[in-house]
Amino acid sequence: MSALFSPIKLAGLELPNRIVVAPMCQYSADDGCANDWHLMHLGMLANSGAALVVVEATHVERHGRITHGCMGLYSDDNEAALARVVSSARRAGTAKFGIQLAHAARKASSQRPWEGGRALTPEQDAWPTMAASPIAYGENWHTPREITEDDMARIRQAFVTAAERSLRIGFDAIELHMAHGYLAHGFMSPVSNKRTDQYGGSFENRLRFPLSIAKAVRAVVPRHVPLGARITGSDWRADGLTADDGVAIAKTLKAEGLDFICVSSGGVTADTRTPTTPGYNVPIAARVKKEAGIVTRTVGMITEPAQAEAIIANGEADQVSLARAFLDDPHWGWHAAKALNAEVARPVQYARAGPKLWAPAAAKA
Ligand SMILES: Cc1cc2nc3c(=O)[nH]c(=O)nc-3n(C[C@H](O)[C@H](O)[C@H](O)COP(=O)(O)O)c2cc1C
Repeated sequence: MSALFSPIKLAGLELPNRIVVAPMCQYSADDGCANDWHLMHLGMLANSGAALVVVEATHVERHGRITHGCMGLYSDDNEAALARVVSSARRAGTAKFGIQLAHAARKASSQRPWEGGRALTPEQDAWPTMAASPIAYGENWHTPREITEDDMARIRQAFVTAAERSLRIGFDAIELHMAHGYLAHGFMSPVSNKRTDQYGGSFENRLRFPLSIAKAVRAVVPRHVPLGARITGSDWRADGLTADDGVAIAKTLKAEGLDFICVSSGGVTADTRTPTTPGYNVPIAARVKKEAGIVTRTVGMITEPAQAEAIIANGEADQVSLARAFLDDPHWGWHAAKALNAEVARPVQYARAGPKLWAPAAAKA
């Protein structure tokens, strides 16, 4: 019996296996609106064998987008466009869909990766950014202005409104982006938060604004819809967040009523280097799962079925999330099922690519 292909329940959501497609920005939206690229991309991943596909970082404010091509849920047009794409992908595929809600803060106003991935120039229609403290993400990045309490109230409400839009679209789960140096992580980390008011300084103070977002969103997301967060479990630097902080953040978010945590790491400054070894976040996730006692997902250099199986079987995480492996092999979940001798859902149109196809090869082996 495969542990990876065993069911799990997140709040009211039943998932047939533990495989999740990680959120992946496509930098291809039109003023935040999903289009035919997203229909193709999400339609493909809907039949990947993963029980859950998390839609890319979707920004709650227009100027909270990373790039001009980032997805948003800040307008009625955005909502209608994403509703079309998700309902089509859902009709064509077997996966459930989650969404990641985000605000890029000091990493906003940047070029798409294939245009350089640096700060936009004025000619490229750069816009002013804001963050916990007026410190640039790195050399030649925009210096943000410090977020005020009025900004906080507006951004918090934007998260709530985007969550309400997500529910109307019919998303099965909502994930708050609290990792990778964006808005919430920027407040949480002592590297990027140098405030002297009640939103900076102590661990409790640095968490105050992100927690207020979690609380406000939880208040509008019904209990049966899983709400969670992706966190940075380590800043990978001596003056940053450590795995101990990751555990403490998870505990605090659990106390706010969140249902799951996805443990990622890194991204606090442009020059921070995140490990690239297989499963580099797994040890942090294992601690979060054990010590915070919350459904824990992890991500980062998980590429092999046996590796994913071991993470779940050893109790190090409850779900594994894969990003690049699914771009490389959009049927990764099917191939993992084959490797682990497990069942996976396929659309009827593709049923003939199932076990009967492999049986002759297996018999020969
Ligand atoms: C093209 C691309 C886009 C990404 N966009 C997001 C995103 O929108 N939100 C997020 O939290 N992480 C994002 N990531 C990070 C991935 O979700 C994942 O954490 C990272 O790639 C490590 O997992 P992997 O080794 O399985 O690729 C992105 C990664 C890639 C490759």
